[in-house]
Amino acid sequence: MTDTTSPAPLRVLQWATGGVGRAAVEAILSHPDLTLVGAWVHSPAKVGRDVGDVLDLGTLGAPCVGTLEEVCGLAPDAVVYAPLVPDEAQVVALLRAGIDVVTPVGWIYPDPARLGAIDAACAEGGSTLHGTGIHPGGITERFPLMLSAVSARVTHVRAEEFSDIRTYGAPDVVRHVMGFGATPEEALASPMAALLGAGFKASVRMVVAELGFDADPRIETLQEVAVATAPIDSPIGPIEPGLVAARRFHWRALVDGEPVVTATVNWLMGEEHLDPPWHFGPEGERFEVEITGDPDVVVTIRGLQPESVAAGLVRNPGIVSTANHCVNAIPAVVAAEPGVRTYLDLPMIAGHPAPHLARGR
Ligand SMILES: NC(=O)c1ccc[n+]([C@@H]2O[C@H](COP(=O)([O-])OP(=O)(O)OC[C@H]3O[C@@H](n4cnc5c(N)ncnc54)[C@H](OP(=O)(O)O)[C@@H]3O)[C@@H](O)[C@H]2O)c1
Repeated sequence: MTDTTSPAPLRVLQWATGGVGRAAVEAILSHPDLTLVGAWVHSPAKVGRDVGDVLDLGTLGAPCVGTLEEVCGLAPDAVVYAPLVPDEAQVVALLRAGIDVVTPVGWIYPDPARLGAIDAACAEGGSTLHGTGIHPGGITERFPLMLSAVSARVTHVRAEEFSDIRTYGAPDVVRHVMGFGATPEEALASPMAALLGAGFKASVRMVVAELGFDADPRIETLQEVAVATAPIDSPIGPIEPGLVAARRFHWRALVDGEPVVTATVNWLMGEEHLDPPWHFGPEGERFEVEITGDPDVVVTIRGLQPESVAAGLVRNPGIVSTANHCVNAIPAVVAAEPGVRTYLDLPMIAGHPAPHLARGR
């Protein structure tokens, strides 16, 4: 007799319930092949509560826990790992426990020479680690590589973000990771720039390697800042005159001194009261992917920035799409061979239809 029952949904735990974490919970709940088993939370006050109650999504019957032991006790197949900053020891422990990890905080295209503990943990647990996101992750390498397939004799690949950071309601990330509100000297010397740049550099390296550019292995980082000329309202409170209110980073791979792959961010706390007077230009907020070759190909991605600052602070589509890219990868990651698996190793990752349009509705 043919077995017509559907396979059991994959059990997923959300690690951290910030902006990405909340959107990932929503994505897990709406995914036909996944079920939410709980969340790891950083704040002790959330431990023991229901995930849905903490996130104002209605009671879900999934607990918030605060320790790795409790996470393992919920027996997840996979974890969406989205804390403020990555802690390799936590990821290693999850992998050793046989739990697959999908994350927007690193490991997009890691250097195999630096993966000793992670590789060993994957081997021990028979588990898989996949780094993803949108910027970095997806827009900085997966989509450029896909687009490059319709061009030839490529001379430059560019991925670039133009975003108003007033819409990003994650003050810790905005202040400590992105470096807003500091003096220009502090921002330009911040060690967090290395953490921030690691993901973008990995993306640049993936494009270099896949296209086969003879690039200098050292990825160049160029940083610029603009300061406030009057107090600017922001998710970290008013940014006072003289302090950093806009950042531009370029991460570039060079062949004979010429850039061949570039990832750029233009993060502005609005377009007023900035020195220099940076702006997004007439096209406004967007992401762009450009292949210079035969022919040149340019794609502008819209919809990942909110309609307004107020809307973005309630639900930011860039954060939602980051979470979706993680969650939609879970079935492929669970099915993959153990080890670190990048976009290059996994099959095409797609979304899924709204329930009322889905097969078997
Ligand atoms: N690759 C991409 O495209 C992409 C896009 C967006 C974001 N990200 C990254 O995703 C991560 C999460 O972003 P987000 O927007 O969700 O930030 P967020 O809203 O600030 O949330 C951060 C989360 O981390 C928790 N947390 C705070 N301090 C912590 C600590 N010391 N150790 C562990 N966890 C801590 C918070 O817990 P509590 O709620 O309990 O305080 C919160 O759940 C960041 O690293 C961000 O850079 C990547």
